[in-house]
Amino acid sequence: MELSNADIIHDDDPKLRTQSADVKLPLNKEDEELLAALHQYVKDSQSDELCEQKNLSPAVGIAAIQVGVPKKMLSVVVPQEDGSYKEWALANPKIISRSMKKAALSSGEGCLSVPDVHEGYVPRSNHIKVRAYDLLTNQNVVIDESGYEAIVLQHEIDHLSGILFYDRIVEQPDANTIIID
Ligand code: CO
Repeated sequence: MELSNADIIHDDDPKLRTQSADVKLPLNKEDEELLAALHQYVKDSQSDELCEQKNLSPAVGIAAIQVGVPKKMLSVVVPQEDGSYKEWALANPKIISRSMKKAALSSGEGCLSVPDVHEGYVPRSNHIKVRAYDLLTNQNVVIDESGYEAIVLQHEIDHLSGILFYDRIVEQPDANTIIID
């Protein structure tokens, strides 16, 4: 299976607001193929060349509901300064703890399913722990992340509840919110 922009639903589609359901573990073939394809989309989307070749848009994450499948699966790929990646292909992710401290991206957020620009801060927990099954390591994991990675994970996990980033936009974040450039 190979995904492209032709498969992605937008926020004019009420399906995007669906509550996604847990998937059965171990993953069946169909779910595993979809999760692998979601991950491949995000990885490939970080190459300008592959974006053009395969009709992708640059992304650091995607959730299954964005291709119309209401199952709790998502992928996140965040390039690191040393050329490595922090990446996960998760099933049934659940936030098990979060900091009171908030963080927001100075540039706001975007989404493959949201064609229009929605400017504004999206305050989220600066630090989270997520329990999930990770297809990349074939293990149950607890992910402990803060800052940008935590924000991306929360954006994708929100999709599983039908929440879009602009639902959370505020004009002015609290004074103690960390603003990430
Ligand atoms: Co999104």
